[in-house]
Amino acid sequence: MDLHLQERTAIIMGGSRGLGLGIARSLAREGVRPCLLARDENRLRQAAHDLAADTGITPHWHAVDFSAPDSVQTCLTALQNIMPETDIIIGNGGGPPLEPATACDPALWQKETATMLLPVMQLVGQYLPGMRQRQFGRIIMVSSTSIVEPIPNLVLSSALRSALASWGKTLAREVAHDGVTVNTLLPGRFETDRVATLNRIRAEKAGIPLEEFRRQKENGVPAGRYGQPEELGHMAAFLASPLAAYITGTRIPVDGGLLHGF
Ligand SMILES: NC(=O)c1ccc[n+]([C@@H]2O[C@H](COP(=O)([O-])OP(=O)(O)OC[C@H]3O[C@@H](n4cnc5c(N)ncnc54)[C@H](OP(=O)(O)O)[C@@H]3O)[C@@H](O)[C@H]2O)c1
Repeated sequence: MDLHLQERTAIIMGGSRGLGLGIARSLAREGVRPCLLARDENRLRQAAHDLAADTGITPHWHAVDFSAPDSVQTCLTALQNIMPETDIIIGNGGGPPLEPATACDPALWQKETATMLLPVMQLVGQYLPGMRQRQFGRIIMVSSTSIVEPIPNLVLSSALRSALASWGKTLAREVAHDGVTVNTLLPGRFETDRVATLNRIRAEKAGIPLEEFRRQKENGVPAGRYGQPEELGHMAAFLASPLAAYITGTRIPVDGGLLHGF
């Protein structure tokens, strides 16, 4: 299927590895030129090199720390030159630390709110006027199944991603008339560095060998395995395409059947 995405551009937050890079790869294969944002310059350079070799599309990239407001501001200014307009924004980034709901550290909540919500909103704010004027825009947020079925000890993820999804839902209605769609993807368990790190921490806490812990987690997914980042990327590429013009304000699980409810 031709997704009619050639010559489009995308800004991909957290695009140097994991789900963000999987989405970047799927989009680049459709002819989209991505701009990857993340902290580590070496990893960004390598990701851009690998993507170019893989897809023939040379991505832009820019180093930024979403947890540092000055760094975000510098990035927004730099992007005005790197990519004055964009068709697609992927709202993604690193996840929050493990934390139970009983522990409430106000400083941590403030930091994670600023990191997980504000940079997405600011980036969208910068590019939305152009998208509306050109009557085409795609805003796709990488959230989590945790906003439907909270995951134990990941209260920061469930609560703050719910807030961001609500913001997206509100935005979707405000801009639908201008050809801009806003959708939220709910990944289940994917093969990435973050999941490997969380598994290590949880296995150690539970006193279970890592491989055994991982097997248990995979068995808990009806599909019987973790997803590969590009399996989320395929859905993002479809949502980014003109073919998905009538899909907006949705939350779409990509989880191998993990969620129990609808
Ligand atoms: N993998 C899953 O199964 C899964 C499931 C549900 C939800 N999620 C969520 O989806 C998001 C992506 O997950 P992932 O598994 O792909 O994570 P990941 O492997 O840790 O990748 C995170 C990406 O974000 C960048 N990043 C992290 N912190 C950043 C910061 N402060 N400023 C700028 N860039 C930053 C990382 O690069 P640098 O480290 O170089 O900055 C990297 O490119 C996370 O929020 C995660 O919680 C993942």
